[in-house]
Amino acid sequence: LSILVLHGPNLNLLGQREPGIYGSLSLNEINRLLEEQARDLAVNIDFFQSNHEGFLVDKIHDSWGKHQGILINPGAYTHTSVALRDAIAGVNIPTVEVHLSNVYRREEFRHHSYIAPVAVGQISGFGAQSYILGLQALVYHLKS
Ligand code: DQA
Repeated sequence: LSILVLHGPNLNLLGQREPGIYGSLSLNEINRLLEEQARDLAVNIDFFQSNHEGFLVDKIHDSWGKHQGILINPGAYTHTSVALRDAIAGVNIPTVEVHLSNVYRREEFRHHSYIAPVAVGQISGFGAQSYILGLQALVYHLKS
């Protein structure tokens, strides 16, 4: 099994960006934790971060035939992007949505996700652990 991890806008700033909300780990450190978890689960894992909606859409299209699952933190595009949602629906690759923060205890505009209806499920609020739990849940889903 091969999993694609997609990080949306501003997640390249993790570690320095609002650490009280998003934690102190950098994106690289989170990716290293995911790599360890992937090794334990015996799956291949690839990473991609972009601040550009269209690049994320392209990457989702490119994953068809290469990856069997997608783990995505769409960042702010969660709350705005019909294009990302349509891309995920279009390739029909099982996708798990994750958020570092608990978006439901934050501003109202973060309560709606365009991605959730096309995702297998969503994990929100556990910091870097959201990614680990998300990867475990995705692999469990793909194997069952
Ligand atoms: C986020 C939550 C989003 O609302 C926000 O725009 C982000 C990060 C999270 O991981 O908690 O950029 O996806």
